[in-house]
Amino acid sequence: MHKQIAVIPGDGIGPEIIRQALLVLSAVAEKFGHSFAFTEVDMGGCAIDTWGEPLPEAMLEKCLASDSVLLGAVGGEKWNSVPGHLRPEKGLLKLRAGMGVYSNNRPAKIWPQLASASPLKQSIVNQGIDFIIVRELIGGIYFGEHKTETVDGETVAVDELMYTESEIERIGRIGFETARKRNKKLCSVEKSNVLDSSLLWKQVMHRLAAEYPDVTLTDMLVDNCAMQIVKNPAQFDVIVTENMFGDILSDEASMITGSIGMIPSSSLGDSSCGLYEPIHGSAPDIAGRDIANPIGTVLAAAMMLRFSFNLDKEADAIENAVGQALDKGYRTADIMPQDTKEAADCQLVGCKKMGETIVQMIKEA
Ligand code: IPM
Ligand code: MG
Repeated sequence: MHKQIAVIPGDGIGPEIIRQALLVLSAVAEKFGHSFAFTEVDMGGCAIDTWGEPLPEAMLEKCLASDSVLLGAVGGEKWNSVPGHLRPEKGLLKLRAGMGVYSNNRPAKIWPQLASASPLKQSIVNQGIDFIIVRELIGGIYFGEHKTETVDGETVAVDELMYTESEIERIGRIGFETARKRNKKLCSVEKSNVLDSSLLWKQVMHRLAAEYPDVTLTDMLVDNCAMQIVKNPAQFDVIVTENMFGDILSDEASMITGSIGMIPSSSLGDSSCGLYEPIHGSAPDIAGRDIANPIGTVLAAAMMLRFSFNLDKEADAIENAVGQALDKGYRTADIMPQDTKEAADCQLVGCKKMGETIVQMIKEA
């Protein structure tokens, strides 16, 4: 199989984690007889520096012309003072909207090798953590009107939160379909005790429920959900929620699995061309020091193979190789056990060594 992959290294640790993910993809291509061609795309702060904007039209076109897009991370201190509409993050939002990827899938699953890295009590961890957050990605407050103006001599900032019924319905269907393939439990998360958009959200979810009688739908207010994720994460199978709630809850969910550095995500719309990225940011404080964890990005590449290219065996090969690297005790700093007794069985490695180990595991399998 030949695939054209647009690759966005981005800022901060982006380039170093992407480098490892590309080595992993190349190892898979060689082993399974595929060819992956990589086209580099500038987005984020580096694009602002070179082109004066976070995602020039020509760069977006490159992504739209590809079979899928792999992204490292964007943003950093350096661009904090640029005007809001030119921030590195706006490049990412423009890309998501341009690709029409409304459905963002973020798994929260504990790797047994990393159970002790979870900040939760082991008695909670032992009940199991394995759920998915389905986050609406191109609507809501991120895409409403943003304005800052002076009213009666005072500065006023407004961010509009709007959802249409059809936007809610299409993400709702993804939630139900996802639950259908798993344990058939869907939790719709909103703030319907305060927000109109959430009330509409809840109504649409209940209307859809009639079409998915095999799936059990429950509702949860977002503040309660934030609490339940740390109190009893085993209760969740699939969570479906709006853009900003999904952003916040997915960081929380990643943390209870040990490290945000381990979590990949997929973003898909109606075509097979998806956007794949780790859920963490560009971490400028550790950039260029070879200490970042490349696993989130490597697993995002595996998701690309599975969901956009239907290459299940190949995706399994990557996920198994990650498991083996962990089994062998290799740990980047973010997942290194604090406990000295446990740490004795592990080896602290950098980004490059972790990538090399995963590649080696793929070759040897
Ligand atoms: C994420 C990130 C982005 C978001 C930022 C970088 C715009 O936090 O993918 O979760 O808020 O969607
Ligand atoms: Mg986020």
